[in-house]
Amino acid sequence: MNSDKVIEEIRRAVLSAGEIITSAARTELKIDEKTSSRDLVTQYDKLVQEKLIAAISEALPGAQFVSEESAEKGDIYAENAFIIDPIDGTTNFIHSMGNCAISVAWYKSGEPFYGAVYDPNAKEFFEAKSGEGAFLNSEPIHISNQTLENSIVLFGTAPYNPELADLTFDLVRKIFGKCQDVRRMGSAALDICHVACGRAGLYFEATLSPWDYAAAALILKESGGEFVNLSGHEIKLSLEKTSVVAGSKNIISESSIINH
Ligand code: IPD
Ligand code: CA
Ligand code: CA
Repeated sequence: MNSDKVIEEIRRAVLSAGEIITSAARTELKIDEKTSSRDLVTQYDKLVQEKLIAAISEALPGAQFVSEESAEKGDIYAENAFIIDPIDGTTNFIHSMGNCAISVAWYKSGEPFYGAVYDPNAKEFFEAKSGEGAFLNSEPIHISNQTLENSIVLFGTAPYNPELADLTFDLVRKIFGKCQDVRRMGSAALDICHVACGRAGLYFEATLSPWDYAAAALILKESGGEFVNLSGHEIKLSLEKTSVVAGSKNIISESSIINH
């Protein structure tokens, strides 16, 4: 199957996984704790993951998978590696807050090739193919050209790493004085996409896993944004967690968030 056909299959699988999320039987949620009472997984995270892996494996036999809820992680640098977050924003999902997403990234030998982030509640499908721009529901998107003063800033609280709370909230306090307002939305993948389409000027989080950002980072870069860590270095896909800053070059510089 050629790569465009595989992408078609990914779109189809992601859209149908979105229906699993929007039609989930909310009264029958089975919630398990992973590392703490903040780090949760439901039967729907696992079901979405299973459906996505099955559909992509059929379209591209031999593909490797690095998926959040799967204990066995494939080779992230394989010729065809898929980095999947079946539900990004599980805590929102559990509390019926909306704002959660399915994130699927296709990397070839460690380089981004295609990324999809789908918010099934808002019916917003963000996607990008390397070198071909970024799209929201098939319309081209671009990062904001506003100043920080006229922008909303999004951040994540790195909830599974409470030792990073002081760093996070120190940064939030500093940036709050320089921007229009701050928001903590609850899905890193969507936060990065909100920056990619110009709704927010900046997003940062003190630590993220590859499945949180792999697809959204490509969408952001294809929309003209910068994706770096809190030391200002470009982020190379890795199984290791990393801090993340997403925005336009100007807003990142105005924020003084790098090496604060
Ligand atoms: C989490 C969300 C959250 C972010 C966390 C992520 P999950 O992903 O993206 O917004 O603050 O760092 O781990 O656990 O809901 O897939
Ligand atoms: Ca996630
Ligand atoms: Ca998840």
